[in-house]
Amino acid sequence: MQPKAHIVDLPVYQPGKPIEEVQKEYGLSEVVKLASNENPYGFSPRVKAAIEEELTKFNLYPDGGAVELTAALAEHLSVNSDQIIFGCGSDEIIALIARAFLSEGDENIMADATFSVYKSNADIEKATSIEIPLQGGKHDLDAMLAAVTDRTKIVWICNPNNPTGTIVSKDELKSFLDRLPSSVMVVLDEAYFEYVTDSEYPDGTQLLADYANVVVLRTFSKIYGLAALRIGYGVGQASVIRSINQVREPFNTTRIAQAAAKAALADQEFVQSCREKNTEGIKYLQSEFDRLGLVHFPANGNFIMVDTKQSAVELFQRMLQKGVIARAGFKLYPTYLRVTVGSPRENEIFIRTFEEALNGQEANV
Ligand SMILES: Cc1ncc(COP(=O)(O)O)c(C=O)c1O
Repeated sequence: MQPKAHIVDLPVYQPGKPIEEVQKEYGLSEVVKLASNENPYGFSPRVKAAIEEELTKFNLYPDGGAVELTAALAEHLSVNSDQIIFGCGSDEIIALIARAFLSEGDENIMADATFSVYKSNADIEKATSIEIPLQGGKHDLDAMLAAVTDRTKIVWICNPNNPTGTIVSKDELKSFLDRLPSSVMVVLDEAYFEYVTDSEYPDGTQLLADYANVVVLRTFSKIYGLAALRIGYGVGQASVIRSINQVREPFNTTRIAQAAAKAALADQEFVQSCREKNTEGIKYLQSEFDRLGLVHFPANGNFIMVDTKQSAVELFQRMLQKGVIARAGFKLYPTYLRVTVGSPRENEIFIRTFEEALNGQEANV
């Protein structure tokens, strides 16, 4: 049996190591995982009750159109229901956009260090990816614009950018959109939207009225704390959302995920409290990195990227053995480690282990 020739050399996505695996491998009783930008505060207490109501309905298919959840989100975002599509994580929306809009010979533009799923899906569709170097960890929108040709179909902008954490501002984005041909789709990936406190940060959904080519992606995996349930969404013009729906599987989100997301959305107090605690966590980690004399990118999501000034993969390994999982192995940033902002206790354990690992010492959680 032969797979399609163009997928033979595609890499398999490498997720952060699961806690259970690290515990077993190194015989550890406690592991602190700050590798996948998950919410250390769990999820809204309202979610549990909403899920319990679904427990007797597993024999029934979910609502393929997620009608109730869509209506609740449409109200929350002040858009129409036909402007929203849900997916098995925003990962799936990225795949569906690529499936619906990219073909062989098409070009799509993205930063050279950004969320890897844009490129992997473009590869699957045989589209050509043009990767534009970040400048100081930030999207270079002028260079992205200069790379547009008559074959460009999509520009992906990750805002805040994963892994660097930088943002493009409202003015920068508007100026970019004003100069871009309206036939080119701009996907604004706002997976970390709810964490951002910078007043210059644009809310992509508010640009939809003026820019018909914008599609915004968000997720319930991050601040809402529902990563395991796999539910995210896209918002755009109704005609674009319809095209994406045409290539969607009929039942791509589960009953549990839909009920949980609806309950989570209704609890904005939880979201606010997570945002505030995250901001405190960023301040703590940044001040510790400053104390250690290490440069870090400005953090706008729930993670920070810091220059360790040594092989980050080796440092990562020393920390792993001591039960702290962060993220290293960024091709263009070999000395940088990305750490998710944890709870105050997790952040302290991280810093203690990090500092000892920096000095090559043994540390114990
Ligand atoms: C920038 C960005 N976009 C999208 C996703 C996908 O999230 P999910 O599929 O869980 O919604 C992630 C996950 O880490 C991310 O960092």
